[in-house]
Amino acid sequence: MTPAPALPPAAENGSAANAATAGTPVSRLEATLRRLLPSGARILPHEPLARRTTLRVGGCADLLVEPADDGELSLVVRTAREQGVPWRVIGRGSNLLVRDGGVRGLVISLAAPGFAQLEVSPPLLRCGAGVRLKDLATTARRHGLAGLEFLAGIPGSVGGALRMNAGAWNSMTFERVESVRFLTPAGELREARGADIPSSYRRCDLFRDHIALGATFRGDPSTPEQVEARLNELNGKRWASQPAAPSAGCIFKNPAAIPAGRLIDELGLKGTRIGGAAVSDVHGNFIVNDGQATAKDVLSLIELIRARAREARGIELETEVEILGE
Ligand code: EPU
Repeated sequence: MTPAPALPPAAENGSAANAATAGTPVSRLEATLRRLLPSGARILPHEPLARRTTLRVGGCADLLVEPADDGELSLVVRTAREQGVPWRVIGRGSNLLVRDGGVRGLVISLAAPGFAQLEVSPPLLRCGAGVRLKDLATTARRHGLAGLEFLAGIPGSVGGALRMNAGAWNSMTFERVESVRFLTPAGELREARGADIPSSYRRCDLFRDHIALGATFRGDPSTPEQVEARLNELNGKRWASQPAAPSAGCIFKNPAAIPAGRLIDELGLKGTRIGGAAVSDVHGNFIVNDGQATAKDVLSLIELIRARAREARGIELETEVEILGE
């Protein structure tokens, strides 16, 4: 375990923070972070979140911070905790529905290059939480490492994939994870073996309140040509069965009885529209944004689908997409 960097005491905050204490906890946190982090750090009050999600709806974060690396992230988390400001981490926003009222408190984005490192020592690939899954899969191909092809079509990052044990084509993230580095809610750095972290279909409880910093993935020795062939095969299947329009991927988890997409299709709900949100004509478990959708449109459509599934089939659909804000 690497020790976490020391956190300067709040009493050292100086005049900027003193002036800000008159304001809200968030403005006080903003002033403290501006003082603690280097001048280049990205500290963005009232930051619109819609453009940071693939669904492209929702309001602003009270405060969004992009720490440069693990050390800064730890500092940000510990400072927010000390000042009683709630925080959330977002990745590439591909499984995220932000409500129109936005997110209170602090949103932390791991978009800085410091989280996007990717080192290969076959058959292992060690990567930061900000690495795109597509880049992980294509790097594995270059090194002739098989088994990670399923990640290529998931438009998320390693951190997001760990948080929800993302999957496709009958494979799940944790099946390939050797070890994970993460921060505890108290801001301490830890490392654990993937096999020791409980995970199941689209679920990893550890990362509800711990932050994934990165992971080491295991590939199976193969050849770039074979990996390429599998990537092409899955890519073809994906574009034949899933929409290209802005979405958050599958909206619902698959219930045991029937895949959610087939159920929604059988209920005749494809094409159903509320405002700018519609059930995709391509795949029933996708809600697509025509460019004008609000989060309210999407949430109303989700409720309409859930009510129909309940009434018609007695099936309780559970959302897979993370819903954030107010
Ligand atoms: N189907 C229909 N109509 C539809 C959609 C699907 O009849 O509109 C049928 C298909 O023909 C198939 C079955 O339902 O027989 C399952 O559909 P599909 O093969 O598309 O897989 P899925 O269960 O809907 C899952 C994951 C996807 C992942 C694909 C590919 C979930 C909720 N979804 O979809 O993950 O990409 O398999 O492996 O587990 C995501 O998590 O966001 C996601 C898109």
